[in-house]
Amino acid sequence: MRITVIGCGYLGAVHAACMAKLGHEVVGIDVDEGKINSLSGAVAPFYEPNLNELLEDLRETGRLSFTTDMTAAAGSDVHFICVGTPQKEGENGADLDYVYAATLSLRPHLRAGDVVVGKSTVPVGTAARLAGRIRNSEPGAHLVWNPEFLREGHAVADTLQPDRLVYGVQDGSEDHPAVTILDRVYSELLGAGIPRMVMALPTAELVKAAANSFLATKISFINAMAEVCEASGADVTQLADAIGMDDRIGRKFLDAGIGFGGGCLPKDIRAFMARAGELGADQALTFLREVDAINVRRRERVVELTRALCVGALQDKRITVLGAAFKPESDDVRDSPALSIAAELHSQGAIVTVTDPKALPNAAKRFPELQYEFDTEWAIQGADALLLLTEWPQYRGLDPYELAGMVGSPRILDGRNVLDAAKWRAAGWTYRGLGRP
Ligand code: UDX
Repeated sequence: MRITVIGCGYLGAVHAACMAKLGHEVVGIDVDEGKINSLSGAVAPFYEPNLNELLEDLRETGRLSFTTDMTAAAGSDVHFICVGTPQKEGENGADLDYVYAATLSLRPHLRAGDVVVGKSTVPVGTAARLAGRIRNSEPGAHLVWNPEFLREGHAVADTLQPDRLVYGVQDGSEDHPAVTILDRVYSELLGAGIPRMVMALPTAELVKAAANSFLATKISFINAMAEVCEASGADVTQLADAIGMDDRIGRKFLDAGIGFGGGCLPKDIRAFMARAGELGADQALTFLREVDAINVRRRERVVELTRALCVGALQDKRITVLGAAFKPESDDVRDSPALSIAAELHSQGAIVTVTDPKALPNAAKRFPELQYEFDTEWAIQGADALLLLTEWPQYRGLDPYELAGMVGSPRILDGRNVLDAAKWRAAGWTYRGLGRP
């Protein structure tokens, strides 16, 4: 099939490459010339494991191209909308400008029978509005809402082997003509047994909001338990292991630490609360306010613990932050807890050096006032305290005996509870975890 993918960021670039991998002829369209030039040269404009290799493999097939020219959408059977929906400036709601702009510029190129497929995360009710706009310009075109659930760092695998496919269609019926067309797009996945569910547009939009809210709630739940553990001398990692053995609870997403960040969970729960308010259902999501508050509190707690680790004063203390990305295997620093903690320590007078294997260029754009050092050994020289804030494998594997001779004072705060506390203490370090005695 011939497929258009509009928006070539973290979602769209991966989706375009994966659709081409499935055998389709794909054109990726984005207004950002820099992104298009990079992708045209088979180089992703961000770090995502396995993506560059996939782009390179696809180069020989000639099935994948990128352009800034929207007229390239003409002639495609299916048009995926993968643009961003960031948080509005100074508000909780989602900014839908890119979604509306993409639909507007696509409309002149639609033909009867074409299917527009929304993948961006949008407030419930958006798809119905877009369907109306599409019908007004081409009554024979259809809109499907097909949310993505991919995780950065696993995006290629999550796109090619998703847990499920969700199709939202106007009448919520399996017989909707767009269902057969989307089934052809995903025929290889469906053939491999990936479940797919057809539902009405608002349900499909809500599936995404509900899934992200549940994940955020699970993380904040365990971080709330970490607060109680800190107050009572209990260990949250053992607590998580024990409750996680109950199948109904499950151990995944119960890692207490500095909290969640990234381009999805924080802004999605806020947008969900804002939308519920507009719908008169704000009471239903009041608990998400607490989920958000617990999450923000973890960052404040780390600053306080660092102060305690530095014996009461941050002024002129040399702090090395290991990790700037919001999670490992990503260069994304959007709402990164690690980076926001680094910036707060800097504003309180500490001399902060940040290191990260992939995210330093993005971090430096966001917080130019911090010092950045790519080499871990250089970054930790003479440090008064180390803060492990993003659990990259290279930081998890650091040797406390080797490091002890490089730092100024052997003190470490393990913001992700991934280090062997006994081993670090045996090597002479003052070790602090989160929610651990
Ligand atoms: C998330 C959802 O998982 C994905 O389904 C959705 O499509 C987009 O949002 P992503 O933002 O890539 O994906 O990251 P995820 O792996 O969910 O992690 C989010 C944040 O939670 C990270 O900052 C991570 O460090 C943190 N986290 C995760 C924890 O603090 N504890 C955990 O147990 C799990």
